Amino acid sequence: MKIVVTGGLGFIGSHTVVELQNEGFEVVIVDNLSNSSEDVLKGIVAISGKQPIFEKLDLREKNAVQDFFKKHTDISGIVHFAASKAVGESVENPLLYYENNINALVYILQQLQQKDRSNFIFSSSCTVYGQAEKMPITENASIQAAISPYGNTKQIGEEIIQDVAKVSNINAILLRYFNPIGAHPSAEIGELPIGVPQNLVPFITQTGIGLRKELSVFGSDYPTSDGTCIRDYIHVVDLAKAHVVALKRLIDSKNETKVETFNIGTGTGSTVLEVIKSFEKVSGQKLAYKVVDRREGDVVEAFADTEKANSVLGWKAESTLDEAVKSAWEWEKKIRS
Ligand code: NAD
Ligand code: WQD
Repeated sequence: MKIVVTGGLGFIGSHTVVELQNEGFEVVIVDNLSNSSEDVLKGIVAISGKQPIFEKLDLREKNAVQDFFKKHTDISGIVHFAASKAVGESVENPLLYYENNINALVYILQQLQQKDRSNFIFSSSCTVYGQAEKMPITENASIQAAISPYGNTKQIGEEIIQDVAKVSNINAILLRYFNPIGAHPSAEIGELPIGVPQNLVPFITQTGIGLRKELSVFGSDYPTSDGTCIRDYIHVVDLAKAHVVALKRLIDSKNETKVETFNIGTGTGSTVLEVIKSFEKVSGQKLAYKVVDRREGDVVEAFADTEKANSVLGWKAESTLDEAVKSAWEWEKKIRS
């Protein structure tokens, strides 16, 4: 079965391509290399022993999207990762985000709704919950007004898919990721942040390797056990596997058109200091850090209720925080060696 993976050379996409190929799917990657490199293909082949088809294409080009779907007619599913994802950049340049994250989605759905049936997986985010009232967060928690254009594109994206699924044969699963971290245990693929990392774990590993002087911990006066924010850090390989089971569910489903939403996290929250401790444990070295002011827009805590994904998808995150942080560290060491 042929599966299209947009953004398949990116962080989460590349790990998902590996898991899809391991399960026997034939993968067509669509990527414009705006936040990735063609070299990632080598890592994918080294792990899975299979060469995916790669189409370099910018999904903001409506005609190119149309031509792609004319060329690839025998598609069993689409996993749509391609998007811009930097929260701060989205505040500075909102139209870049609305164009890349919304236009591209619309152009793909325009092609899919002409088909007898399409199976579509969308990368959503726990950011849609904002600061949820109750922990752990269930899929029924209310959607809060987005604090960034990036977050807004995920909310709008979900709504667009819901609307289109009602009037077409598109079956969709919306996966709301919590905080993906880590790398493939082979260290053949991993996260490749451009410039100064905005996210915690790549900043930690870059500090550990000596690329950054020290980590700034954003606030230690939050109402949590040690005063730092709580997140649900999920190993990217566990996250990748969630896409495979979600896709199989759509392919096997004989039901009428529908949209389902799942939280994809571990169900466990960790503080920033706990992540630092985990890094120190798995790397055997101290991390240089200092506490600074809170970062604007940070929620105090967010961790997932994963019961729906566990029972309906039969999926559960397997890796511990230490294993995930260790894989990120092994990857950092490999790419700097
Ligand atoms: P990433 O930037 O590593 O991967 C995205 C890929 O999409 C890149 O390879 C990029 O080159 C490609 N791309 C972007 N715009 C494109 C376009 N117009 N045409 C073709 N290709 C394009 O990001 P990621 O961390 O792998 O995230 C994947 C998805 O998951 C995104 O939709 C993101 O919003 C979502 N998400 C990520 C996180 C996270 O923390 N990493 C959390 C929640 C949701
Ligand atoms: C985690 C914790 C920071 C960096 C973001 C997006 C979200 C989603 C995932 C896509 C927080 C603290 C961080 C640093 C720190 N992406 N921190 N020093 O903010 O939970 O979520 O990525 O959908 O939309 O907003 O992740 O990794 O940036 O931060 O102290 O240098 O680490 O304050 O508590 P976040 P993060």
